[in-house]
Amino acid sequence: MLSKIEEILREVKNFSASSKKDIESFRIKYLSKKGILSALFEEFKIIPPDQKRDFGKKLNELKNFIQLKIDTLHSELKKKPPSKIDLDLTLPGDSFNLGSRHPISIVRNEIISIFTRLGFTISEGPEIEDDAHVFSKLNFPPEHPARDMQDTVFIEKCIDSEGKIADILLRTHTSSVQVRVMEKQKPPIRTISPGRVYRNEAISSRSHCIFHQVEGLYIDENVSFSDLKQTLLYFSKEMFGEKTRIRLRPSFFPFTEPSAEMDISCKLCNGKGCTVCKYTGWLEILGCGMVDPNVLEYTGIDNQKFTGFAFGMGIERITMLKYQIKDIRLFFENDIRFLQQFKSAL
Ligand code: PHE
Repeated sequence: MLSKIEEILREVKNFSASSKKDIESFRIKYLSKKGILSALFEEFKIIPPDQKRDFGKKLNELKNFIQLKIDTLHSELKKKPPSKIDLDLTLPGDSFNLGSRHPISIVRNEIISIFTRLGFTISEGPEIEDDAHVFSKLNFPPEHPARDMQDTVFIEKCIDSEGKIADILLRTHTSSVQVRVMEKQKPPIRTISPGRVYRNEAISSRSHCIFHQVEGLYIDENVSFSDLKQTLLYFSKEMFGEKTRIRLRPSFFPFTEPSAEMDISCKLCNGKGCTVCKYTGWLEILGCGMVDPNVLEYTGIDNQKFTGFAFGMGIERITMLKYQIKDIRLFFENDIRFLQQFKSAL
């Protein structure tokens, strides 16, 4: 009996395999239900009790050894380059998922590409800002409601350059970047500032406390309202199609005078009226106006010599209109089924 085990052990030791198939038949020969080991375990039942201890030990050792041998054969085979027999070149390759850009990035890049074609540069600035760059230098009066807790996420107080107590906050618009550009650069200035902004608002299908903007600024001698209108018309046609019409409605912003809000003709119904445009034929997409002379003065630009225009739009809103997305929260949930639908070269 013991010599039988010794013999099997020798056989197992000398065995070598060149394919998975070899290993499998080796396993079946020794370890399957009808295999050699099963037969030995059957024999074990009828062995005299005084020999059981020794014999059982050997048998278990043999079983473990065979299992170890199978494992080593498998790992050795993996290390070896596949032989010709193993390799089936007609099998389809493993597929892997390609990522896609976030819809907000696609539309932001599209907006950037349109304005860079018009000669605008790209400016960036901090998301944590001081009151001066978000409000004061943009001509917001001290009691303006936009400074209110309802709109702004305040972080802490600090002492500003004039020694006064001032707020540190999350920027509510990227106009703050334009203030920084005006402070540093002399006109002509032609720049856009894309970026993330924060507002202390309840989250719903139409508004979020975080969103993205692209704001634009153009300052030079003799910049007029018609330059603003023409720039925005060009942008709208490039973004929404050649047939797009625009209209400007008077509005108010502390940092522009005169100010306007711009609508584009509804693409879905061609201005006839539908649920998306609430039967008006028009969709509001941005705010704009001529830079208030006070803003130029506060940022050190000669307001007798220079004039300028500014505009600002929310990227989420434009993306929702472009792709007919009904809920702004989808942009922040990172549901792969939603994101996978957007493929773009940009
Ligand atoms: N900053 C304004 C906003 O966040 C948009 C705007 C920019 C309006 C420039 C006019 C001119 O709503």
